[in-house]
Amino acid sequence: MKTLFEETRIGSMTLKNRMWRAATWLNMASDTGQLTKRQEKVYLDLAKGGVGTIITGYAFVIKEEQPNPNMLGIYDDSFIPEYKKFTETIQAEGVNIVMQIVYGGSFSSYLTDSRTIWGPSAVAHPLTEVVPTEMTQDNIKTLVSAFALAAGRVKTAGFDGVELHGAHSYLLSQFLSPYFNRRSDEYGGPIENRARVIIEILEAVRKEVGPDYPVFIKMHCTDDWDDNGLTVDESLYVALELEKRGITGIEFSGGNMDNENYPNKGPGRGGILKAEKQSYFAEATAKIAEHLKIPVISVGGHRSPERMEELLNATAIQYFSLGRVLHSEADIVNRWQQDKTAKPRCISCNKCWYKNGNICILNREPIVSTHVSM
Ligand SMILES: Cc1cc2nc3c(=O)[nH]c(=O)nc-3n(C[C@H](O)[C@H](O)[C@H](O)COP(=O)(O)O)c2cc1C
Repeated sequence: MKTLFEETRIGSMTLKNRMWRAATWLNMASDTGQLTKRQEKVYLDLAKGGVGTIITGYAFVIKEEQPNPNMLGIYDDSFIPEYKKFTETIQAEGVNIVMQIVYGGSFSSYLTDSRTIWGPSAVAHPLTEVVPTEMTQDNIKTLVSAFALAAGRVKTAGFDGVELHGAHSYLLSQFLSPYFNRRSDEYGGPIENRARVIIEILEAVRKEVGPDYPVFIKMHCTDDWDDNGLTVDESLYVALELEKRGITGIEFSGGNMDNENYPNKGPGRGGILKAEKQSYFAEATAKIAEHLKIPVISVGGHRSPERMEELLNATAIQYFSLGRVLHSEADIVNRWQQDKTAKPRCISCNKCWYKNGNICILNREPIVSTHVSM
């Protein structure tokens, strides 16, 4: 019988429990992506709050390509000294810290008129209506190299691992999705081609960080569209290819879209209260996990230790990452360690998005919210 609170190892990482903090953009970094005191405090509270591993909010890998304001940057070496101090502070609490790195693309409303926005194809994003410029193969080489260099910086700065953001309709997940990727070259068409960019990025990252450094990816178990989205079988194919090429573990999210045609089908679903609404990507994730040897982390709607432990023992899912629950209560894991039946305060209202820093509505004044892309 496996338990949530047992210690496990993933390569060089020791994890004191099976709960991770899912990447959460805090909207609190400086305009150019540097850490702020306010942001450091959020991470320190999380580190003291009991979670075993923290994934940072996404960090942009090319200076000119920032999909949202006030997110972390990792686009040049000047970030290394400040992140080094930061990782040491967090690790002193007995917690791992992994940095998530991203290239945004058309899922962005930030300065989109003054920037060149790359996409696999010139297909308007259904939520932002931004039409990207189709990437040339030279652009793809630039992208691959930017991810590799950023991963090298993450390692030098002392993070326990790096996570590629391959989900939520940001650029890498767009390559995987037939909806966004209409290319006719070797990067489009069948899933073998649509996966090529991510495979090239993993290979370049491995060259940069070596064979043993923990490299994760967040990707979709399915886009959750009934037409033209990434299917579970295709995700399984990608996962197996990444496993062969040395990915350390995969965090499975899902559901690109949340609009009138696909209500509440996005990655962060609303109103997760009843047990049957919780852990909403776990079933599709479990279908993939049973074919993989590497650790699988499930994200999306985990709200109770009992449900997580049930999944832990009934499926091949080994870890659980928590977004909004920890955003509301940084110490919920400590509370759960005392009482596994403790109810989280988060009701998945999705009012975490706020122009002056993404903060749970219950943790801030005044109460005003704006929903921005995630
Ligand atoms: C305020 C906010 C910011 C987020 N930022 C990111 C991010 O930077 N990278 C990412 O992969 N997902 C991001 N997400 C999505 C979460 O990581 C997670 O996948 C989603 O919230 C579902 O998990 P939950 O039900 O535990 O909240 C964000 C979610 C929220 C609410």
